[in-house]
Amino acid sequence: PSHPVQERVRDLVTARAERDALDEEEVTARLRQVYDEFMALRMHYQFGIDEVQTKVEILRKEFEQMHDYSPIEHVRTRLKSVESLMEKALRTEGDMTVRAIRARIHDIAGVRITCSFVADAYWVADMLASQQDLEVLQVKDYIANPKPNGYRSLHLIVQVPVYLSTHVEHVPVELQIRTIAMDFWASTEHKLAYKYEKNLPPELRAELDEAARVADELDRRMERLRGEIRPQPAPGRS
Ligand code: GTP
Ligand code: MG
Repeated sequence: PSHPVQERVRDLVTARAERDALDEEEVTARLRQVYDEFMALRMHYQFGIDEVQTKVEILRKEFEQMHDYSPIEHVRTRLKSVESLMEKALRTEGDMTVRAIRARIHDIAGVRITCSFVADAYWVADMLASQQDLEVLQVKDYIANPKPNGYRSLHLIVQVPVYLSTHVEHVPVELQIRTIAMDFWASTEHKLAYKYEKNLPPELRAELDEAARVADELDRRMERLRGEIRPQPAPGRS
């Protein structure tokens, strides 16, 4: 029984062989080699996740102790499977070498942080970004500038040092910081997008647009109620 990713990889190998004027065996051999190297490298990305997760946990626990509520509701991490990494590497422009793939794919390690309020999402981002050992490589603010489909979230690519026995590895980690309402919408949209691929019926599209508007409205209302819980503005931003 073949996995859908494996099928997609087979098609992509054919496409790439055609594009690069190589035969499929050569592309497959290269893929196998890169695959094996990433199997070994995977652990480093997991360490990157562990480092970021610890930083977030420290912020959460410290804040909880000092104030009476937690700005962070939950944290989820995921390490991209080597199969989906190979699929994305074949699908995107660029060489099929470990070095080139690592340079163009920044979501091998992922951390998703769900916050209570919009201001908390920015607060978490600011707190992490200001840490000296953490380098921000990219920021995409889909809260201020939602995607055309209504997707909202704050995306950061950060690079974190991982101390190994022989050297320091700087590992990029994709952070998605969002509110509960944004998360609810995104997970529903993701399931629909997966089920319907590119062919979402217009009536569902309209429902989803409306749901995005309601989620945004809910965040605004909650932000107003937040003032009642804790009158002072969020630390970091005003
Ligand atoms: P990739 O999505 O990884 O190809 O990179 P990108 O450069 O398009 O990055 P972007 O910041 O737009 O999205 C990165 C991740 O955010 C995705 O892998 C998803 O997890 C999430 N995301 C982005 N857009 C959407 C969206 O429209 N719906 C949902 N549910 N998730 C999204
Ligand atoms: Mg991605």
